[in-house]
Amino acid sequence: MRVFSGIQPSGPLHLGNYLGAVRQWVDAQSSDAFYCVVDLHALTLEISPDALREQTIDLLATLMASGLDPEICTIFIQSQVSYHAQLNWLLECVSTYGELSRMVAFKEKSQRQEGYRVGLLTYPVLMAADILLYETEEVPVGDDQRQHLELTRDVAEKFNHRFGETFRVPVGTQPKVAARVMDLQEPTRKMSKSISSPLGKLNMFDSPRDIEKKITKAVTDTDGEVRFDWPKKPGVSNLLEIFASLSGETPAQVAARYTRYGELKSDLAALVIETLAPLKRRHDELLASPDELRRVAARGAEKAAAVAGMVYQRAAAAMGLA
Ligand code: AMP
Ligand code: TRP
Repeated sequence: MRVFSGIQPSGPLHLGNYLGAVRQWVDAQSSDAFYCVVDLHALTLEISPDALREQTIDLLATLMASGLDPEICTIFIQSQVSYHAQLNWLLECVSTYGELSRMVAFKEKSQRQEGYRVGLLTYPVLMAADILLYETEEVPVGDDQRQHLELTRDVAEKFNHRFGETFRVPVGTQPKVAARVMDLQEPTRKMSKSISSPLGKLNMFDSPRDIEKKITKAVTDTDGEVRFDWPKKPGVSNLLEIFASLSGETPAQVAARYTRYGELKSDLAALVIETLAPLKRRHDELLASPDELRRVAARGAEKAAAVAGMVYQRAAAAMGLA
């Protein structure tokens, strides 16, 4: 099964990134899996060149510390495989302004930035290029990427219809639990790298003290009953999903063991700390050898380019490029 997914080097990963995306990547890794640090996408953010460079290497270390093994799968940096930017242009010429301006992520982000740049609008076309270059069948992502996946499918189908069978049409996959981890302070909004407040967002490498503090202060409700019920009890349901995702149970099974919020929270904090502590240690070890991380990326880029080059040439030829 050919698998592809990507993640932006836009700062430390939070628990939503880990449970919604990265853990699925680890489960799906094989010689047929390609995982990409999408630094070109991160250029749509306000980010300094030095920070981008540093965060890109840091994210490689985070992915490997989470269990991705470059001996098993391909891990690479988007900008090191030039076909992504090249196919992006070809696909921009089959995508419409209308379909891109309907994307919810674009509508939200463009409202927050005055004089937003064109890259924010065309962001999902580059994402489609990422995916289609690898003849991808499955794209493991969190729930917030569903609409972008639909656009990718539409673009592929449109291209195939107009220029002949060129791209495989992929599907997105979400984990059964924790596909949308919510902000701990505002549990009706997703946990987000950019929008969540420090207390609302649990970073993978927060200190045990911070993890405990954030979970203890997580917003719940006043009826005091531990029950899995998203519409009526989003705060508690969020904690139950996080717990279940880490313990391998269902949220209802976890709920059945608890009668008090306090106990649920302290056991959850212990479980999160226990899960993430070894990852943090591994991350710090890996980051101590940045040259080795760069070698991993270079090898990954070479493997990725071998596949992407073939598909790019096919698309370019189909469109009539010489
Ligand atoms: P991003 O941080 O936007 O680069 O997202 C990287 C990956 O994490 C994508 O697959 C997202 O769908 C996933 N993701 C981001 N936020 C969450 C969240 N709150 N819950 C679950 N998955 C998420
Ligand atoms: N848009 C994705 C996000 O914000 C990141 C991404 C870029 C991606 N290219 C991709 C995800 C290709 C999956 C496949 O999370």
